[in-house]
Amino acid sequence: MTTPVAVIVDAAAYAQAVEDAVKASAGYYAGGTSSLDDDAYDRLMRGIAAWEAEHPDQVLPESPTGKVAGGAVEGDVPHTVAMLSLDNVFSPEEFTAWTASLARRIGHQAEQFSVEPKLDGLATAARYTRGRLSRLITRGDGTAGEDVSHAIGTIEGLPSELAEPVTVEVRGEVLMTTAQFEHANEVRTAHGGQLFANPRNAAAGTLRAKDRAYTVPMTFFGYGLLPLPDTDTALAARLGEGAHSDLMAQVAAYGVNTTATTAVPDVTARTAEQVLARVKEIAALRAELPFGIDGIVIKADLAADQQTAGSGSRAPRWAIAYKLPAVEKITRLLEVEWNVGRTGIIAPRGVLEPVEIDGATITYATLHNPADITRRDLRLGDHVMVHRAGDVIPRIEAPVAHLRTGDEQPIAFPEACPRCGAAIDSSEQRWRCENGRNCHLVAALTYAVGRDQLDIEGLGHTRVVQLVEACLVTDLADLFTLTRDQLLRLERMGETSADNLLTAIASAKDRPLSRVPCALGIRGTGRSMSRRIARHFATMDTIRAADAETMQQVDGIGTEKAPSIVAELAELSPLIDKLAAAGVNMIEPGATPPSPTTGDTMDGDSPEATKATKATEATAMPLAGMTVVVTGAMTGPLEKLSRNQMNELIERAGGRSSSSVSKKTTLVVAGEGAGSKRAKAETLGIRLATSDEFATLIADFIG
Ligand code: IVH
Repeated sequence: MTTPVAVIVDAAAYAQAVEDAVKASAGYYAGGTSSLDDDAYDRLMRGIAAWEAEHPDQVLPESPTGKVAGGAVEGDVPHTVAMLSLDNVFSPEEFTAWTASLARRIGHQAEQFSVEPKLDGLATAARYTRGRLSRLITRGDGTAGEDVSHAIGTIEGLPSELAEPVTVEVRGEVLMTTAQFEHANEVRTAHGGQLFANPRNAAAGTLRAKDRAYTVPMTFFGYGLLPLPDTDTALAARLGEGAHSDLMAQVAAYGVNTTATTAVPDVTARTAEQVLARVKEIAALRAELPFGIDGIVIKADLAADQQTAGSGSRAPRWAIAYKLPAVEKITRLLEVEWNVGRTGIIAPRGVLEPVEIDGATITYATLHNPADITRRDLRLGDHVMVHRAGDVIPRIEAPVAHLRTGDEQPIAFPEACPRCGAAIDSSEQRWRCENGRNCHLVAALTYAVGRDQLDIEGLGHTRVVQLVEACLVTDLADLFTLTRDQLLRLERMGETSADNLLTAIASAKDRPLSRVPCALGIRGTGRSMSRRIARHFATMDTIRAADAETMQQVDGIGTEKAPSIVAELAELSPLIDKLAAAGVNMIEPGATPPSPTTGDTMDGDSPEATKATKATEATAMPLAGMTVVVTGAMTGPLEKLSRNQMNELIERAGGRSSSSVSKKTTLVVAGEGAGSKRAKAETLGIRLATSDEFATLIADFIG
């Protein structure tokens, strides 16, 4: 990816560009929202640099080029060694060109590189005196920074005491993990504050804020270690000579957090090809990381190479940032649409001025619920920060409040269901049409008969529309009492199609119980949860007899979900009765209901105790206690299975299926074309199996 350069045509445009960049930079470093997103800022900076290269005699003194933090920040605590920024590259070609220029500078190819995630937070220096954390300083303009020691004690990974009584400076990034960011926004809004636009902003605002009525935690990741004037001479000499990778191991040994404990630990590489392969791996893992990264930092690892390469006023020549495409862009919120889903939930969706994020044009973004709109104080016409990572649905983070013109309009909430006009139940955060599943019956039925639910072949969306419009079906159960004559009255329905459809409907009656809760559209029960409920209770009668506490015995159901599932089951009672009367199977083959002697559902054993008993019962199974991730295309005996069927198989064999690889994963089944999940498994040292090896392992459970 090459970020295009902003074109600057004359001196006036250049002056304006400098002003815009300085202003944006000030917002960025001060913890307010910048008026430009990262991508727009990079383009502007490249444009400014290009113009200055052509007109060296007209460079403005306030120009942000050549300055750390674009010259936008201040501070009065001098750094002992300048705290520099990094130059950027945007493509493999630019990176290879950088390695060549480094080789020219040092007289040979760099022997070894360190390849690290570029953490998206704030550069911070932590000074330790005889092992105690004595001072915390921001990068500032690189030569002096701001004292933010008031934040000591609120930053995870930055201990107040090191494992050794050494006097050193650890440099690194202060950031908020996704969970910390969400928590910070909750606390901030509860105190009447405005939402932070993103974790970086939240960390910047929080780190610099003094005397706040509340504290919210942040996280530190170290990426450098250097001596201070008082450092013991022998240690100072060792630090001066140590390879960067050895220094980072030392930082971790002192007890300071580094990326070593994450899915993207620092690695060393010997060639540009190896570096680029690692860049790809880190990029593939980006969306799943619990913290933001905006690129990969590549450093000459050996101290001698670093010393020979030296540094410029803004950035070292021995390191470079390989920028990844931005996952956030600023665009305008044009409209809010209210759509009714298959369960009757009325969900708002933002219509955006189209914006390209990481190669995709984004026109819609989720807005969760009305309370969320209010909490974010969004208005029509607002400039908003939109976030899109991986294949996740884009979301609006926050309005860029200082770009408001005063013409923005409040967002109107619907007073009646936008689909059927019925009243709205707004008692919960997510609003719901009082007609519930019947409001958008076509969507509810189409989902219920889908491949992973009741799997009725030949009953696609168009047929469902026909059946509903002809009033032949008013709920899911009506499907099972359809007659041949009724079907033949439909347009484009011949005798063969009608017979095939009736056969498909008849065989759907025999699906395992595990397909029923999700087919009913019980909120909070996707395919995998539906299977867990069915396997736990074994019969629909036992499921329906469960109270909220008993429901919590199911793995993954907590105090919040349990009562709502119980309430929905009660709401769906007439429909479940009707389905059972029509002959739909309500039993899970091979499962046994929780019995009174082995952790009863009814006698008051704790939900945790019953979960444990169920787990012990399963130990005879080949996948007992294992968390399995399937990735890539299956071959051999497993070739025809959908992902859902694979997950069902894993669970039948006693395992737990998951879609993402983490430290908790025990086995990754990597089929043909497996990519990032396989790479992550290798990085984390997780056991891998081919499709055939896995088929052998669970042979008794196939079919
Ligand atoms: S090394 C002199 N390593 O990126 C070397 N910086 O855009 C400069 N950053 O100011 C720092 N992750 O705030 C280094 N693994 C990493 C980093 C990293 C994030 C930040 C740092 C720096 C900025 C430059």
